[in-house]
Amino acid sequence: MPIYSKKYECLSANALKKLQDERLIKTVKNMYDNVPLFKQRMDELKLTPSDIKGTQDITKLPFSYKSDLRDNYPFGLFAKPLSDVVRVHASSGTTGKQIVVGYTKNDLKMWSKCVARALSAAGATKEDIIQISYGYGLFTGGLGVHDGATFLGATVVPTSTGNSKRQMDSLMDFGSTMLCSTPSYAMYLSEEISKNNNKDKIKLKSVVLGAEPWGENMRRQIEEGLSVKAFDIYGLSEIMGPGVCFECECQNGLHINEDNFLVEILDPKTSKPLKDGEVGELVISTLNKEAFPLIRYKTHDLCKIMPGKCSCGRATRRISRISGRTDDMLIIRGVNVFPSQIEEVLLSDNHVTPNYQIVVDRVNNSDTLEIKVEMNEEFFFDDVKSIEIVTSSIKEKIRSVLGLQAKITLVGPKSIERYEGKARRVIDNRVIN
Ligand code: DLL
Repeated sequence: MPIYSKKYECLSANALKKLQDERLIKTVKNMYDNVPLFKQRMDELKLTPSDIKGTQDITKLPFSYKSDLRDNYPFGLFAKPLSDVVRVHASSGTTGKQIVVGYTKNDLKMWSKCVARALSAAGATKEDIIQISYGYGLFTGGLGVHDGATFLGATVVPTSTGNSKRQMDSLMDFGSTMLCSTPSYAMYLSEEISKNNNKDKIKLKSVVLGAEPWGENMRRQIEEGLSVKAFDIYGLSEIMGPGVCFECECQNGLHINEDNFLVEILDPKTSKPLKDGEVGELVISTLNKEAFPLIRYKTHDLCKIMPGKCSCGRATRRISRISGRTDDMLIIRGVNVFPSQIEEVLLSDNHVTPNYQIVVDRVNNSDTLEIKVEMNEEFFFDDVKSIEIVTSSIKEKIRSVLGLQAKITLVGPKSIERYEGKARRVIDNRVIN
C-alpha cells in the first residue's frame, strides 16, 4: 500500500530528531512569549526558552493539565490573537464549563494532513466516497475528519450523527466506500444492515473508528458484520482532534504523527518515563501548532510504545491501543463525561441529596446512562406530580450540560449503599474488549 506522506512518515531517526528539535524550540518560544501561564511555570522552574535545545530536554519542561484549560476559559491559553484564529472547537471539562481550543489557518492545514495520512493508511484515495458520521460542530470529530478527507481529494458525505435511516440510505445509494464513526455507531449500523438484509447493497471497504475505547472483539464483530477492515484512529481536542495517531494496514499499533507531536509514556504515579513496552500515561507535546500549543499535556489515557518497527514501512513510532484512563472520565455515546459534571447538576437541586449513583450500560449497541439519586427527607413525602417535575428538571439540566439524554431515577433517602472508603459512584456495565 502506498504511503501517503512518505516525506514525513519515513524520515530517518536523525532527520526526525532534527525536525522535532527545531519545532520544539519554536513552540517553547511561542508559548513563553504569548501564554502567561506557561511563562509563569517556566519562571518558577527558573527556565528560559534558551535552556531547551531539543527533545532531550523535554523532561525539564512543566506539565499541562485539563484544569489549565478550565481555569483559562475560554481563550486564556491561546498563543495567537483571535484575529489569527479561524476556528474554535470545544470538549467537556471536568465541571459545567467546556474547554475551548483554537486553530490558525496553518493549524487547520497541519490537522488536515495528519487526518489525510490516517485515512490513507486505512486505504483511502481520492477515488473513495467517505461517509463521516462523527458529530459536526464543536466536537472535533466531524469537521476534523472532513477536512482531512477533503485534503485527500475523496468525495465526502458529511452525514454527521443521528438519523440512522438517512445514514443507511447514504451508505447504499451513494455507495460510500469508507465510513468514519464511533465504533459503537459502526456496530449499530452493522446490526441494522444485517437485520434488513442489506449487506449486499453496501460497498464499504473500510471503517475508521475512534473517539471512544474499543477492543479486538468489537473490531472482529464490525469487520465481519460489515465485511470491511476496521482501523483505529486516536486524538483529543486539547492536542488537535482526530489524527494524532492512527493504524495502518498492519493493524498493530497506532502510528504517531511524530513530525507534529512528541509523545512520552510516564508512570501515572511518579510521572517518570517508562521503557518502551511498559503501559503508562500518554503525555503529548504539540510541535507544530500556532494558536493552541501545549507542552507535556497529561492526557490520562493509558497505552504503551510498541517496541520495534512496523512492517508497513512507516518509520514513525507506534502506541498500543488505548487500554484505559487514569481518571474517572467516561465516554458515553461518544461524549466525554466526568462524574463531577453530574454531581454539580445534582448539587444545584435542593430536592435531592448528594448521594447518587451513575449506571452506564450498553443496550442494542447504544450506551445508556441512568442517574439514581436520593431524594431529601422533606421531599420524600411529596406526591407523584412533584417527583415528575423534579425528575424532568434534572433530566433537562443534564441534557444541557452533557448533551446527553439520561434516565433519572429518584430513590428514597438512605437507599443508596454507603461506603466506608471511596464511594463507588459509577457502575459501568459495558465490557470493552
Ligand atoms: O474524541 C477526538 C476524536 C474524534 C478522536 C474522532 C478520534 C475520532 P475528545 O472528545 O476530546 O476528542 O475526546 C478525547 O477520547 O482522551 C480518549 O480518552 C478518547 N479517545 C479518542 N480516540 C480514542 C480511541 C476526540 N481511538 C478522548 N481509542 C481521549 C480509545 C479514544 N479512546
